[in-house]
Amino acid sequence: MEKYGETLFALDQDEETRLRLLAEVFDPLCTRTLAALGVARDARCLEVGAGSGSVARWLCGRAPQGDVVATDLDTTLLERIPEPRLRRLVHDVTRDPFPDDSFDVVHARLVLSHLPQRDDVMRRMLRWLRPGGFVLIESFCWFPVESSPNATYRKVMQRWSSLICGTLGTDSWWSRGQPGSFLGYGYRDVGANTVTQNLQGGTRLADFWRRTVDMSREPLLSGGYVTPHELEEFHALLGDGDFWDLAPALVQSWGRK
Ligand SMILES: C[S@@+](CC[C@H](N)C(=O)[O-])C[C@H]1O[C@@H](n2cnc3c(N)ncnc32)[C@H](O)[C@@H]1O
Repeated sequence: MEKYGETLFALDQDEETRLRLLAEVFDPLCTRTLAALGVARDARCLEVGAGSGSVARWLCGRAPQGDVVATDLDTTLLERIPEPRLRRLVHDVTRDPFPDDSFDVVHARLVLSHLPQRDDVMRRMLRWLRPGGFVLIESFCWFPVESSPNATYRKVMQRWSSLICGTLGTDSWWSRGQPGSFLGYGYRDVGANTVTQNLQGGTRLADFWRRTVDMSREPLLSGGYVTPHELEEFHALLGDGDFWDLAPALVQSWGRK
């Protein structure tokens, strides 16, 4: 398996734009759930695989007397955040440690589903939590795409998913059973919420998915996953305000120590 960021999702200007778009589209869902779960003013927070760092920045505002650590394999974007209280750390969640009982809040969005070691990571994160602390994991689930009546949208999105699953070890279905698996990892007070978004061509959400697929344009074409014509059609659909479908769903799962 290839590691995230080695070739797929390598951090360049296009990936930066995509990550900022991701934050714009998905932060409202995430911060609403974090707020409902309860981030205390003195909470010690860990944002795993923080990307552009938008959620870490939000956590700094919610926990003014606390401590926020944002990790990633590459912290280039995190270094640009004008937030002196944010601690930025190059840290591989699959192997680098934190002391036991370090955090009240651990959040990871669109990170664990990409990691073949996700089960082990979930168990390690439980150790990093203090008693009473919670973890919130967010992952996409592909079921709205599988049932799309639009053959081009369905095929290009499915083939893109096949490419990243085969290359990185991503699991586009893990999120379905995520809440149940939390109990097996040792978490308690498990809960979940799934958000299925309507996707209209020409919107920021459509632009996010178009850019996401485009990041893998070369391997999609050279590996024979899709044809140039199908990619063109997909582009046109996602730019067309008359095209409506469903985006992959976002599954949010949480549990406490
Ligand atoms: C799809 S992006 C999501 C970024 C951010 N969580 C967000 O939702 O805005 C996945 C992020 O996870 C990071 N990542 C991937 N594997 C990682 C690992 N083993 N340890 C830490 N971060 C990792 C990537 O570098 C990337 O920033």
